[in-house]
Amino acid sequence: MHEHDVIVVGGGGAGLRAAIAAHEAGADAAIVSKLHPVRSHTGAAEGGINAALREGDSVESHAYDTMKGSDFLGDAPAIETLCEEAPEDVIQLEHWGMPFSREEDGTVSQRPFGGLSFPRTTYAGAETGHHLLHTMYEQVVKRGIRVYDEYYVSRLAVTDEPAPEDRTCHGVVAYDIKTGEVEGFRATNGVVLATGGLGQVYDHTTNAVANTGDGYAMAYRAGVPLEDMEFVQFHPTTLPSTGVLISEAVRGEGGILYNSEGERFMFERGYAGEWGEVASRDVVSRAELTEINEGRGFEDDYVMLDMRHLGEERIVDRLENILHLAEDFQGVDALEEPMPVKPGQHYQMGGVETDENGETCVDGLYAAGETACVSVHGANRLGGNALPELFVFGKRAGYAAAGEDMKTAEIPVGRRGEIEEGDVEVPVSVGTTGGDVAADGAGAVADAESVLERAVERERERRDELMGREEGIHHAEIRAELQEAMTRFVNVFRNEDGLQSALGAIRRARDLYQDVYVRDPSETFNTDLVQTIETRNLIDLAEAIALSALVRDEFRGAHWRQEHQERDDENWLKHTMLSWNDGSPEVWFRPVLLEGEEKTYEPKTRSY
Ligand code: FUM
Repeated sequence: MHEHDVIVVGGGGAGLRAAIAAHEAGADAAIVSKLHPVRSHTGAAEGGINAALREGDSVESHAYDTMKGSDFLGDAPAIETLCEEAPEDVIQLEHWGMPFSREEDGTVSQRPFGGLSFPRTTYAGAETGHHLLHTMYEQVVKRGIRVYDEYYVSRLAVTDEPAPEDRTCHGVVAYDIKTGEVEGFRATNGVVLATGGLGQVYDHTTNAVANTGDGYAMAYRAGVPLEDMEFVQFHPTTLPSTGVLISEAVRGEGGILYNSEGERFMFERGYAGEWGEVASRDVVSRAELTEINEGRGFEDDYVMLDMRHLGEERIVDRLENILHLAEDFQGVDALEEPMPVKPGQHYQMGGVETDENGETCVDGLYAAGETACVSVHGANRLGGNALPELFVFGKRAGYAAAGEDMKTAEIPVGRRGEIEEGDVEVPVSVGTTGGDVAADGAGAVADAESVLERAVERERERRDELMGREEGIHHAEIRAELQEAMTRFVNVFRNEDGLQSALGAIRRARDLYQDVYVRDPSETFNTDLVQTIETRNLIDLAEAIALSALVRDEFRGAHWRQEHQERDDENWLKHTMLSWNDGSPEVWFRPVLLEGEEKTYEPKTRSY
């Protein structure tokens, strides 16, 4: 058994920042990650980092833009914390050597991004995430923080009191991918989940194959609520071939979108007033799909994004990476031709419920980055707000897990504070394969070592059972059906029949999963086994997304409903909460916190 004060699960931006913070606070921190840190998906972030750094800009303006972008579903204490701390954290990155793009006078460059009232997105070309990841990884190496890479964390070691608020997390269980051994990692202070997004729930996504939502699924099954899972961001500019991201920076720098009639539709068809292509992502994605659905797309599938007029010098200086992506993944020379683009799944606004210190309702369990929902993005994230989120809240979660004295959080977690029970009929899941709590009786096994041992034992049983089956259905078949149903029915435009169909497909996937088998019998580097376990996570998360989407019968941010095309502030200024409840998801609600430190954010119509 391994033992550290703080175990950080995931080696992307949030995980690295959490580990650095925990180390700074004097803890023995370790990172356990299924990838080597510099292969994490943060490396695919292109556009930049929002922070109010310049004269003429302000933290208040960044906070207001973020609240408006969230369609008034973000929590003000979280948004204000993000915007207040982002500038100092960008400066910290600069001091660590992050190679930001610069102006002639040496100051860090900033550019316009969707939904921002000031050009406040700092960047490093169009490969900001790559540089961010390397800059932070250097700091991890410099501090001698232990990294267990290619260890797949599959289970949390959590006590099993009936109420999640009474449970404690004592560590994690992971497969050493190179040997197939199942090992326990005891965390004497805390576990931070920073496993990134869940894009593999969909078949057209900007996310890497590794983004299977493991952190969300493990926390959910351990009793932590998932919050606002219906809010899935579809990025307006992904390559039709693969879902590879073409950064919003192209539009921020002046790139234009047009339809098959040659119209610059964002303006000519009045989708977002004078904001045009730099309206926020939910608005632009809907506009593109409206063009396509009304017959003004190309091949009924995409629109065009053109940046040729920016000129080669500017493109090579600020967007060079885009040229490579368009050429390598779509065969397009973007200096000479426009790029075909369409909306694709990009980001999960919802996630594991946390407060501003990254704490969940389970003692000793924290979450940060995309995995967490604190919530700063509400119903729609602004481009450029994910990277500050991961280092502001990664840092806070790292400090908190290390036992640092943090300011008391204003955001309540678990079934505390003002909540509303959901009077919602939820379809009963079939064939669930159990939760992730470690023991069988109500709090019967409570000491840390026994809880961890029991969790390891359970994971070994699961492995033996999966590996012992000689035939059945392969995970890839289940995954493909699930992804296809989610892309078809739980996309930018949603309606009740489609959401019910998605839930039907998810239930079928659960049934099929009862007979899943692992084809590869080997112990070393058995990615077939890892993907089989990941697929189970995808099923649970697809259900959480589809169910939350069915429950929210209004239109807000990224969640559009055919039968309810208006935002309904009277009934829906509240977060959708989903509790695992032994595999029979339970829906309840928590009011959104619109009261900031100095003002209350009054919901306004969001016409951009
Ligand atoms: O378009 C982009 O470069 C993506 C940025 C983001 O998701 O924040």
